[in-house]
Order: sequence, then structure tokens, then C-alpha cells
Amino acid sequence: MRAKVTKAIFPVAGLGTRFLPATKSVPKEIMTLVDRPLIQYAIDEARAAGIKEFIFVTSRGKSALEDYFDHAQQLESELRKKGKTELLEILKETNMDSGEIAYVRQHKALGLGHAVWCARRLIHNEPFAVILPDDVIAAEKPCLQQMVEAYAETGGSMVAAMEVPPEKASAYGVLDVQEDMGSVVSVKGMVEKPAPEAAPSNLAVIGRYILNPHVLKALNKKETGAGGEIQLTDAIAKEIGTERGVYGFRFRGQRFDCGSKAGFLQATVSFGLSRDDLKDELMAYLQEVIALDKAAQ
Ligand code: G1P
Repeated sequence: MRAKVTKAIFPVAGLGTRFLPATKSVPKEIMTLVDRPLIQYAIDEARAAGIKEFIFVTSRGKSALEDYFDHAQQLESELRKKGKTELLEILKETNMDSGEIAYVRQHKALGLGHAVWCARRLIHNEPFAVILPDDVIAAEKPCLQQMVEAYAETGGSMVAAMEVPPEKASAYGVLDVQEDMGSVVSVKGMVEKPAPEAAPSNLAVIGRYILNPHVLKALNKKETGAGGEIQLTDAIAKEIGTERGVYGFRFRGQRFDCGSKAGFLQATVSFGLSRDDLKDELMAYLQEVIALDKAAQ
């Protein structure tokens, strides 16, 4: 029997400079898509996949994140007094039981691999998930759950993967495919942010991982890679050719790059349109904007 994946690491230490000035005082992960912060989508996805322990790798200025997952006693008692049961239900999603959530600090921004390594003492000899909250994935079956199911067959380490336009590949970790089995591919190489001419394919790593604990051992070496940072991709690549191996998983769903402004706006529109309470008004507005734009041309 394969060990169950019950822990997930959420690297949330980034400065979020692309969203300044907002991120001067608001952690990027608290920025909202419709009415839920980015981090809530990531947590919901993890829960759906059977994750029981949530490990946040944070940095200075992220205390709003800790408060978000704390019980808001005063707010809750006010709502209870007023009989606002629906809102109380909504708040429940944000509550974490004591001990379910852990915070470790990354003292220096040394890269994604380093951020994951900061959580090493909370992971024992067990597979663990990593979720990058910037990558928001809308899917009928949540992406990490799809991966947990695929991982039950493959073992090893698994990364979410998606074909991107070839000219965009150098913004990602990129997979060199050994065998393409459809949704699962076995991997014979992976490169972080390759130069355009060096990209082995256009199959890019997206921010969902199920990793063998050996990856943490590779991170112990603190080797730097692309951009002078300690890269998670490089540590995973060390698992290629071991008996465990590395797999890419083409998930079913739509991924939004909420680390970019355009991606964030697209996600906002898409999530707005999927909401019964907002759809009609938002669609009417979008149609109006498009009509005005056409008329102006
Ligand atoms: C990180 C990873 C990269 C991956 C990407 C997905 O890069 O290092 O391998 O393709 O997330 O979003 P970042 O976007 O943090 O530069």
C-alpha cells in the first residue's frame, strides 16, 4: 500500500511585488477572487484531496494570513446574535482546528526550493503535496485530487503539467517527456526557466506537486539554479532515473496565473460568471463593454 498524502506545503513567503502597491500591506494570497482570498481556493483544493495538515511557509508581513485562519470570536458572536446563519456557515470554511495548520518562516527569499525545504522538519518519511496558491485551477474534480488518484498508480514524484505556447515555456519549469501515456507522462528531464532555444518541450510545470521525501534530501544541498535561486524543479529532477521516478500529470481543468495581473482579472471574470448570484449582471456588463468597444472601432 502506498502511503497516503496527508500534508501539504503552501509557499506563501513571496513579496508579491507584481501587485504593488496593494501588496505593501496585504499579502498577495489574501487578495480576493470575487469574495474569497486566493489562499482559500488552495486550502479547499487540498482538503478535497484528503490533506489533513497544512504547512504555510511565510515571511515578515504575512500575519493577515494567520488571522484569516483563526477563529474570529467577536465576529462570530455578533453574527450569531443577529441570526446570520448563512454567513456563519461561510466563515466555517476558514476555520482550522488547532494543530491542523503550521507556520514556518523563510527568513530569506532564496527560491521556491528553499521555501519547501524550510518545512522539512514537519515532513517525515512520507509523500507530501506542494500547492502554489498563485496557480488557481478551476476544475470539476479539484486538480490535487486528480493527482492523488493518479499518484496511487504511479508513486514516485508527480508534477501538474500543461501545454503552454512555446514562446511562453521559458517562464516555467519544463518537462522532457520519456513516455507519453495520455494524462500521465514519465519524465526523463526537467529544466527550470530554460532559454527559449533550450526548452525540451512546451509541457510546463504548474504549481501542484506530490513529492517523495527524497526531494527534501536533494534540497539539503542548497544548490542554486535558474536566477541564482534554489529551485524545486532541480531537486525533483534528481529523482529522475531512481526507482521512484518523476511523472507529469496533465490535469483536467482551467488554470489561471493569478501571479500576473491579466491572469488575476481573467480568473475574477471567470469565477464571477460561474456564480449564480453574479452571472447575469456581470455578463450584461461585459456585453455592454464589448458592444461599446466595437462601436468605437
Ligand atoms: C514556479 C516554479 C516553476 C513552475 C511555476 C508554475 O515558478 O518554479 O517550475 O512552472 O511556478 O506557476 P514561478 O512562477 O514561481 O517563477
